[in-house]
Order: sequence, then structure tokens, then C-alpha cells
Amino acid sequence: MTRPVPPPPPVTGGASFHEMWRELRPIGRHTESGGYRRFAWTGADAECRDWFEAQARSRGLTYEVDRNGNQWAWLGDPAAGDAVVTGSHLDSVPDGGAFDGPLGVVSSFAALDELRARGARFDKPLAIVNFGDEEGARFGLACVGSRLAAGQLTVEQAGRLTDGDGITLPQAMEAAGHDPEGIGPDPERLSRIGAFVELHVEQGRALDLSGDAVGIASAIWPHGRWRFDFRGEANHAGTTRLVDRRDPMLSYAETVLAARREARLAGAVATFGKISVEPNGVNAIPSLVRGWLDSRAEDQETLDTVVGAIEDAARDHAREQGIELAVVRESFTPVVEFEHALRDEIARILGRDTADLKVPVLGTGAGHDAGILSGSVPTAMLFVRNPTGVSHSPAEHAAEDDCLAGVTALADVLEGLARR
Ligand code: GLV
Ligand code: MN
Ligand code: MN
Repeated sequence: MTRPVPPPPPVTGGASFHEMWRELRPIGRHTESGGYRRFAWTGADAECRDWFEAQARSRGLTYEVDRNGNQWAWLGDPAAGDAVVTGSHLDSVPDGGAFDGPLGVVSSFAALDELRARGARFDKPLAIVNFGDEEGARFGLACVGSRLAAGQLTVEQAGRLTDGDGITLPQAMEAAGHDPEGIGPDPERLSRIGAFVELHVEQGRALDLSGDAVGIASAIWPHGRWRFDFRGEANHAGTTRLVDRRDPMLSYAETVLAARREARLAGAVATFGKISVEPNGVNAIPSLVRGWLDSRAEDQETLDTVVGAIEDAARDHAREQGIELAVVRESFTPVVEFEHALRDEIARILGRDTADLKVPVLGTGAGHDAGILSGSVPTAMLFVRNPTGVSHSPAEHAAEDDCLAGVTALADVLEGLARR
């Protein structure tokens, strides 16, 4: 007599986490730097998106791509409303780390697996989302997928976004098989969401210092990107007397130093992390130096003061050197205070008490889709400890135990929020 084969044990969040992490690991990884180059609407991005779709389908979730190219995986009826949504993004900065974005997406699927293994029941629909183009590495503007959906980026503005090769965002979408005709505000979709919770690797060391694996976000600093175009005169590097030069690199260099000084004085941050030079020849004085400033501060007034002072310093130096300067604000995101009611509810679910500050509640200087959505739906974030605080670098890291603590915390939160 053959005995009935017992059903396989349910896949736990931990086991599925390992498997998903192993699958995603090679996608878009640069062999020399060890960092990730998963830019929006490129081949690496398509592989990540295929991976997301496969994860959704293998779990029997309803898979959708919205008009703005964001991917959704639904458990329950998407149209029922009051949905509990979690997720993050899969794209990266140039030579980014493995965790910024993917940790949130992988943890979302793993948390669902954990909940199914627990036999949890949901009274509300649940969804996992992968927002497109969060980092803005290719088109210069961060959080394009969520901004479009929330109406914080108009169709006209999106149509003007261009990558370094002159390819526009709609052209890139089309080349990747996504119809750009439908992009734009998606209030109907956002109105289905009752709460959005994004789990993210911490991009600082607050949790390491407090000794906690998981924390809750309080606020996102206001932040923006400004393009500084310094125009001078191209000339021969060997034959042009120093006094005869109009070298925009000098004004640019002074501006970098001013950014550091002003940020330090104000307790803010200011970074020139990207530069383009024309004609970009070793033996030519540049005709154009274009530098991108990223600046962030705890409050709007401080940020305005810092950026204003950097711009003044740039103008003074440019004037002295006969350099033309144009400054364009390419993007701006105001301060985000995450909704207190949802934050307190999450703290309660996690068995902690925000009133007594027993749970680490952290502000952050990093931008997130959760910040963009917070203007439209109740939104919260969980952070997972990063022992070095390093992020936007191949050295970005979170310990396995902490990642799994994050999965359990997210599962608890989703289960708690999905109950009526
Ligand atoms: C995104 O990670 C940003 O803060 O720029
Ligand atoms: Mn990032
Ligand atoms: Mn991120």
C-alpha cells in the first residue's frame, strides 16, 4: 500500500528571500565595479521587470503594468479599494548597490510567502509594486513612475526628458515595448490604495547606532537637483596664456568648494556628483562645463539658503572670469512628513510605542516613491539596518539576519493593516 505523499511544506519568507536574491544578483551587475547598472527602460531593467512578472505569476497573483510602466502584482480584487500595497523599485544609480530598491521588492514577495505559510487571511486586497525609474539615473529626474501616477510630473515635462544620447523618455519606453501614449496622472489607480508601505535599506547609520534591525520613517528631507552650465571659450591648453583664458572649469571648481562650505555651515548636504565637459579633450580648455548639484536639508528654508548661497558664489566667480552661467532647477521634492496615524499604527503592530520613542523613528535625506505617493495616499516606510550606512555604491550592505527581520516586520505590518 502506498502512503499519500504529504504536501510540501509552505515556502517560508526566509527560504524564498534567498532564492529571489540569488536570481536577481547577476542582473545588470558590472563585472569590474561589482555595482549595478539597472537604468530605466534598458536591457537590465527589462530583465528585472521579467523577473518581477515571473514572481507574480508563480504565486498566482494578478499581474498588471500600469499606464506609466509601474508593475503590480495583486492578491485579491484590485478594484475592491482600500488595498494594502507594498513594494519599491528595481532600477539603480550608476554602479549602485544590490539593496537600494530590490530589498523592498524581494522583501514584499517574501513577506507574502511568510503570510501564506502562517495561513494569514486578508480582508483587503494586497498588492506588490515595482515603481519604474526611481533613481532617475538615465533621464535625470527621480521617481518618474510614481510622479507621473501622482500627477507630479506632467505628460509634457515627461516628453521632454532626454538621456545622455538624446533619446527621450517616450522613445525609450516605446523601444522597451511600453506604449508611452497612455502616460499621465492615474488617480483612479491611486484611489484603490488604502495604505502604501515601502521597506528600504537604511541609507545612514542610525539603526546601527541604536542597535535595532528595523526602524520606521518619520520624514524625508526636501531635496532637489540643479544644473549649472558654465560657458567659457575653448582654446589650446599649451599655447593660450593663463591671463587670456576664459576657463569655465575654474568657476565650476570654485562652486564645488562653495557647495561643501555652505552645506557644512547650514548642517545640510550639497553634492556635485555628475559633470559633463565640452569638448572634453585633455589638451583643450573647455568651452562648457555642466555640473549637476544635488542638495538636501532638514527644512525648506535651510535648503533655499544653501542653494542660493552656492548660486551666488558661482555667479561671483563666473563674473570675475568672464564666464556665462545659467542655473536650471531640474527637479524638486518638498519635505515629506509621513502620516502620523499610519506610522503609529505600524509601531503598534510591531509591538512598540512611538510615544515613548521605543522604536527608532528616523528622518532621511534620501528620496523615495513613498515620498511622492504620500501626497495622494497614506504612506509609511520601514528601514532595515545598514551597518556601514554606505549606499548608492557597490559596498551597500545589510546583514542577512536583518533582511529577514525586515521580512517578518513587513509581514506583520501587512497582516495587521489588511485586517478590518
Ligand atoms: C534616491 O535614492 C535619492 O535619494 O536620490
Ligand atoms: Mn537610491
Ligand atoms: Mn531606493
